[in-house]
Amino acid sequence: MRIAPPLEIGPLAPAAQDAVRALAAAAERADGVAPLSEQPLLRLDADADWLTHVVAHDKHGAAIGYLQVDRGGEHASAELVVHPDRRRNGTGSILLRTAERDARLPSRSGAPDQRAKPLRVWAHGDLPAARAFATARGYAVVRELLLLARPLDGVPSVPEPPAGYTVRTFVPGADDEAWVALNARAFASHPEQGRLTLSDLRRRQGEPWFDPAGLFLLTDATGRLVAYHWTKVEPGQPDGAVVDGEVYALGIDPEAQGRGLAGPLTAVGLAHLAAVGCTRAVLYVDGDNERAVRTYERAGFERAAIDVQYARM
Ligand SMILES: CC(C)(COP(=O)(O)OP(=O)(O)OC[C@H]1O[C@@H](n2cnc3c(N)ncnc32)[C@H](O)[C@@H]1OP(=O)(O)O)[C@@H](O)C(=O)NCCC(=O)NCCS
Repeated sequence: MRIAPPLEIGPLAPAAQDAVRALAAAAERADGVAPLSEQPLLRLDADADWLTHVVAHDKHGAAIGYLQVDRGGEHASAELVVHPDRRRNGTGSILLRTAERDARLPSRSGAPDQRAKPLRVWAHGDLPAARAFATARGYAVVRELLLLARPLDGVPSVPEPPAGYTVRTFVPGADDEAWVALNARAFASHPEQGRLTLSDLRRRQGEPWFDPAGLFLLTDATGRLVAYHWTKVEPGQPDGAVVDGEVYALGIDPEAQGRGLAGPLTAVGLAHLAAVGCTRAVLYVDGDNERAVRTYERAGFERAAIDVQYARM
């Protein structure tokens, strides 16, 4: 007989955050792909009325499953994981049902005229278990996020900035507000990236990988910020292995789009990643963002993996 695990709902105490990180690491070792993406992991300590944390425990109090629901965007977005040794016991189903109920809550408590949001659930790597689980519950793929990659040998070491523009690196404190505004304009229609706030930026600045020397800003002749290319290199990657550097985000002000800035700005970041010792560049892009996919394919990237979002049909 299946016994439903007790659920703990609410902000996570530091010990619970550590337990969720350990659970995610165990799933990553077993599945070969991280079950939670960066933003949910960075938000384990966050307490907001549009954000829900749910931990499933076994009878000894060990964390065996975790769900995070973000009701801040256009859709309610969930990520969930069950410990690899505790699967096929109904825990994922209970977490998914909890996510479905949570998505019906307003994004701000007490605010009038709020509609329930359709729920979307991420499956990183679109593993067979996630596919079977989602299909069994009437969910189908509604969005694809591609991981593209290219080797970094042979990239020009001193790329030319686009004519009429200057490239400089980010100055923490001085550029924060201007960067957040530019990012919001560049990603106005992007469900996650366009919502980054000053405190999201500051959280990232506090991460061990943050390096202002890898965040390139493009300014026009008047000194105005028109585009950026943010690269990311996780420290502590194994010696002698492929060392990945990420095109973390590349955003161009809508007014400056269509001027051929993306190619040269991509090259600036790739030269940096090669110079700091990365052997492979990777990036995430929405499968239906044809212009971006084309830009990256022209820059030598090819598809390496896929994350998908499921919604109930
Ligand atoms: C996907 C995941 C959350 C499922 O958790 P779980 O606790 O094993 O799920 P449940 O026990 O509630 O499974 C419910 C049903 O889903 C289907 N299912 C789940 N895993 C399956 C698998 N490996 N193969 C075939 N069917 C599977 C079955 O129909 C199952 O019912 P059954 O056990 O009665 O046959 C878990 O495998 C996981 O954490 N994967 C990594 C993270 C991830 O991909 N998350 C995204 C989920 S969309």
